[in-house]
Amino acid sequence: MTSTQSVPAATPADDTADGGGVLRRAGAVVHAGSGAARQWWRDAVIYQVYPRSFADANGDGIGDIPGVTARLDHLETLGVDAVWLSPFYRSPQNDAGYDVADYRDVDPLFGTLADFDELLAGAHARGIRVIVDLVPNHTSDQHAWFQEALATAPGSPERARYMFRDGRGADGSQEPNNWQSIFGGPAWTRVTEPDGTPGQWYLHLFDSTQPDLDWTNPEVRSEFENVLRFWLDRGVDGFRVDVAHGMIKAEGLPDWDGHVEMVAGSADDAAGESTGDVDPGAPEDGSTGAGNQGPMFDQDGVHEIYRAWHQVLAEYDGDRCLVAEAWVEPLSRLARYVRPDEMHQAFNFSFLTTGWDAAALRTVIEASYRANDEVGAPTTWVLSNHDVVRHPSRLGSADPSLKVNGVFATDPQPDEELGLRRARAASLLMLGLPGSAYLFQGEELGLPEHTSLPNDVRQDPGHFRTGGAEAGRDGCRVPLPWAADAPGFGFGPAGEPWLPQPASFARYAADVQYGVPGSTFETYRAALALRKAEGLGQGALAWLDAWADSPDVVALRNQDVVVLANLGTEPVLLPRGAEVLLSSGPVLTDRSADPQTRVPADTTVWLRA
Ligand code: GLC
Ligand code: CA
Repeated sequence: MTSTQSVPAATPADDTADGGGVLRRAGAVVHAGSGAARQWWRDAVIYQVYPRSFADANGDGIGDIPGVTARLDHLETLGVDAVWLSPFYRSPQNDAGYDVADYRDVDPLFGTLADFDELLAGAHARGIRVIVDLVPNHTSDQHAWFQEALATAPGSPERARYMFRDGRGADGSQEPNNWQSIFGGPAWTRVTEPDGTPGQWYLHLFDSTQPDLDWTNPEVRSEFENVLRFWLDRGVDGFRVDVAHGMIKAEGLPDWDGHVEMVAGSADDAAGESTGDVDPGAPEDGSTGAGNQGPMFDQDGVHEIYRAWHQVLAEYDGDRCLVAEAWVEPLSRLARYVRPDEMHQAFNFSFLTTGWDAAALRTVIEASYRANDEVGAPTTWVLSNHDVVRHPSRLGSADPSLKVNGVFATDPQPDEELGLRRARAASLLMLGLPGSAYLFQGEELGLPEHTSLPNDVRQDPGHFRTGGAEAGRDGCRVPLPWAADAPGFGFGPAGEPWLPQPASFARYAADVQYGVPGSTFETYRAALALRKAEGLGQGALAWLDAWADSPDVVALRNQDVVVLANLGTEPVLLPRGAEVLLSSGPVLTDRSADPQTRVPADTTVWLRA
């Protein structure tokens, strides 16, 4: 490539020849660096393993704990600091393990406690920490406590561990209030009393097999503190706390007409189409304003629970940590979960739902630092998890800020190539930000959502409880491809994986990416290594002046690295001599003695500043 005749609009024209000055002129500091990280989790890259879909060791088609142990080399090569394991506890698996029947045992589907200990030891031997999932808002209906509650009369101490209420109406045949389950349908189910008469109702914010615990009950509190200790004693490094914003409900359980969603895209109307309008009531910090409000969420009482848990963890060495899964907005509300005596991190879902828009990303990034710096907590970054459409497929959709909730085969299908290009660019932007980052298994392979799953293989209760109106979350949970040419793409030694994999997974298999320069895996690996070497997780962030208001480019300086993401449609011309450390896709550099590089659309580069 030669010639730089026309200077693209996205480039500050006069600065391209100034030897890189444009890369050094940064504006006010958005986030001050933290120096050396005080605790490991402040700048950690944490990889989410969804056990049933990671790797199957025993050939039954479902991933398991020995499968994770057998693939620890993959995680070590990638260079992650920690793994978070989604639930592997005893469970009837009505919500893929988020319905726990015994918090102190491994489900036989996934292995044994001895298998868990082996995984933990193997991870620790490689310097990888292990975070486990804690599901405190509800148990499974198969939990001994709930079975005891059903077997005893209204008003019993066994019932007082859950949210049992009498029904409304003369014969108590109507729900105690009008709350809806997040998975669809009423949030209440009526029981038959031990004497055979129609009885009380119990609350379940999720599936009817996931009864909500009553967290005002001291017995519930002490039980969970003991569960924390059980796993801390075994050596885990922390907990991801499920539905951390839901455990306390407003006094009197008042009716509420709002619509409860786990994940909401911005300006997402009921039909899932963008209204194109920004909600006038939305916070100005870039959050969607769709965070869960209402009497079942984000009640002040939850914070007392986390203060107590903080104390429990503080009894242990090694900076154990708590990370909140709280779909709470605005970001200033979310930051209350990570005050110095509460949890340590909270997932940044406002970032996840932002989409692909330079100005919106700057807004949400700035607001995230503002809110977290206020309480001295690290900001986290996340683009994918087991509840949302994988980010390559979101970013390859017509409106990337929509459709976080699953895609039907009959929906408009995402543009896979565009989505992958943008996803890699988004990931390099995310990994260049100070703070801690969460990766979802398979994103290091560039894996798309399975967007054409037949409905008859779906398993998510959210699909069934909405009467099929929601596709549900199965499309992001499809078993990983390890080997392009093996049956089931090497997910296990034999057997059909529990969800079908699309044929396109062959292209994404780990074995065709290892050692291949420019593959998504090698790009993530290089990013994690550079991030560590350059101390980016602890760095300070400032926007580069030249692009501070650009509608197309996000450009920031972190330590000695400039991260520049081109979200526009025209290439960005870099100053002569700019040194590209890493890029999310091919960049074009002319061959002159004084080379100049163009960053194509939907590409992020890391540059030496
Ligand atoms: C969380 C989990 C989700 C689960 C729900 C109920 O949001 O991430 O997978 O269905 O809680 O436990
Ligand atoms: Ca298995």
